[in-house]
Amino acid sequence: MKLAIGNDHAAVDLKFEIMEHLQNRGIEVINVGTDTNDRYDYAVSGYKVARMVADHEVDGGVLICGTGIGISLAANKVHGIRAAVCSEPVSARLCKEHNNANIICFGARIVGGEVAKKIVDEWLDGEFQGGRHAERVAMIMEIDETQHLKKAEE
Ligand code: RB5
Repeated sequence: MKLAIGNDHAAVDLKFEIMEHLQNRGIEVINVGTDTNDRYDYAVSGYKVARMVADHEVDGGVLICGTGIGISLAANKVHGIRAAVCSEPVSARLCKEHNNANIICFGARIVGGEVAKKIVDEWLDGEFQGGRHAERVAMIMEIDETQHLKKAEE
């Protein structure tokens, strides 16, 4: 498995901690974020990771900023992306099982390293359940692709 990881200046230390954790799991990690504490706008790495996921260059993405919010908002503007911000492991599991999130996001100012690793693990180990959830994800992607949702406009 290959993942891309990105971050802003608020999340450098946590990014390295998560990279090590992923590598220990045998996952190849491509780091496209900043490695310094100088200002680095979250939209840049949010876009870069999202682009790689949308283009199927990697199997998924991990994005970390101060809260996880700004970087997820940027990533979700790229067609095909479902980036979920999670601050605890239950949501992380469910964002894969129900929403088939292809990017997991969290905040370095919100969660500590151990919780962040658990969040990443639950997202990675969860399996999309399909069925009614697939129908709902298809609606999200219909909005993404057409800016309309037939079911809401009938
Ligand atoms: C950077 O100061 C901060 O705004 C950013 O990391 C993030 O929290 C935005 O959503």
